[in-house]
Amino acid sequence: MFKQKKLIVANWKMNPQTLKEAREIFDAAKKTAGTLKKSEVVVCPPFVYLPALAQGYKGKRLLFGGQDCFWEEKGAYTGEISPKMLKESGIAYCIVGHSERRALGENNEIVNKKILAALKTGLMPILCVGERERDQQGNYFSFIAEELREGFCGVSRTQLLRAVIAYEPIWAIGKEGDQAATPRDMHEMGIFIKKTLVDIYKTKQPPAVRILYGGSVDAGNAAALVSEGETQGLLVGHKSLNAKEFSEIMKHVDAI
Ligand code: PGA
Repeated sequence: MFKQKKLIVANWKMNPQTLKEAREIFDAAKKTAGTLKKSEVVVCPPFVYLPALAQGYKGKRLLFGGQDCFWEEKGAYTGEISPKMLKESGIAYCIVGHSERRALGENNEIVNKKILAALKTGLMPILCVGERERDQQGNYFSFIAEELREGFCGVSRTQLLRAVIAYEPIWAIGKEGDQAATPRDMHEMGIFIKKTLVDIYKTKQPPAVRILYGGSVDAGNAAALVSEGETQGLLVGHKSLNAKEFSEIMKHVDAI
């Protein structure tokens, strides 16, 4: 069912500090991405670096992503960037609803508006979902179901296939690799996400939407999170800024 390529997304967040460093990290990622056979790499730099990095880049194995977008097309929205502007700058994917944005006040309703706007413009949204902590009773599952249900409200079955879901448990973000979720945690959550999509979309089979894992991915845990976790890829934060380690992550995933 999942014939798509594996997706390795680099979320640079508000890093690095200079365009010079950004170019170095990007050039290294580009080099390894060019050797991959079964994976696609998406680099999500801060918006200001995009034009410089995208200029003259014609490769196909590495694409650009935004870290966020606004839901309106244009107008008096100081500080915001529209999906259309992103598309015009050569962006293919857009992260939506990252927990660091939700922590700044973004709720499911806002996330939903952004998902719809991104899809309408032709961007492929990467919807981030994830619980703050896990409770013994397993209530975090209903929290994830709600993020999916509300995040995809009004998204048609066809549109859904252009979306990507990243399961990023907040408790596992920004740590060392041994504190990431286990492949078993991911496997279980992947099944739950598919079951929830079946419920929402009333389909017999789970819709073929790619599900990624994110949260302290490193070169040591990447392969298992994809193979044993049965995901279609990874969302990599701080390790995507380390050229050598990110290159290893890409190679490990591609070898699966
Ligand atoms: P991390 O970040 O890899 O640094 O944990 C992942 C993310 O927040 O997208």
